Amino acid sequence: MAQILDGVALSRRIRAELASQITKEGLSPGLAVVLVGENPASQVYVRNKARAAEETGILSQTHLLPADTTQTALLDLIARLNEDPKIHGILVQMPLPPALDPQAVIAAMDPAKDVDGFHPVNVGRLSLGLPCFVPCTPQGCMLLLREVLPDPAGKRALVIGRSNIVGKPVAQLLLQADCTVTMAHSRTPDLAGECRRADILVAAIGRPHFVQGDWIKDGAIVIDVGITRVADSADAEKTRLVGDVDYEAATPRAAAITPVPGGVGPMTIACLMRNTFLSAQARGL
Ligand code: GUN
Repeated sequence: MAQILDGVALSRRIRAELASQITKEGLSPGLAVVLVGENPASQVYVRNKARAAEETGILSQTHLLPADTTQTALLDLIARLNEDPKIHGILVQMPLPPALDPQAVIAAMDPAKDVDGFHPVNVGRLSLGLPCFVPCTPQGCMLLLREVLPDPAGKRALVIGRSNIVGKPVAQLLLQADCTVTMAHSRTPDLAGECRRADILVAAIGRPHFVQGDWIKDGAIVIDVGITRVADSADAEKTRLVGDVDYEAATPRAAAITPVPGGVGPMTIACLMRNTFLSAQARGL
């Protein structure tokens, strides 16, 4: 039976350590969170990020902009935040409304304040193995993995999903940890077979219960990044959050597995706090 990788407990530990470091070093880290439009899931994420910042001793400002915000107005805000010495981290919550160009917005950020690690400079540095802001969700996946497997060198890792936010950077981090990495996606033939060979499985597809229990290799470590709200089969009035992996069916086979919710999600926020702290520390402010 799998060990449950408790992201709530680990993220709490990380945030508590950060809070005491911030006090000890007399830092005043500042994080600006920008949300354009009214995507309900994004509203929850942004609120959670602001609350976590407050609890960690990070000054946070939330900029809520209407859905019809122009590209120019958003770039103006980014330019102001780039210049603001109280702000060490800038996060623009994705996805943006379709009229806005996310890559242009990301490119407008000062890479030294890009605590999401989305700027081409940080993406390039990550792929070169140079110091950079490591994207929060992939960083959280690696911290959870290392809880049960401190040295994953030599393991076969399968990443399902090739997004810029999760799939590609988590594959880079697994490669840096000396795993043999395979990236699977919608055009991969025999995905079940690929999964059955994987010692480490990272599922970041965004399709609820896509990975079947009998695809899991015995003793595998399963990191489930998916989080989708679905109707509760027991009660049609209710909804619940489920991951990309059929958790109930995978648990008897896996050595360790992240629950949804309470696995990767809280780790993303803890790593955002960590990146903001590191940014403030680098400037010595
Ligand atoms: N949308 C989903 N995940 C993320 C994230 O890690 N950062 C930002 N900015 N937007 C997201």
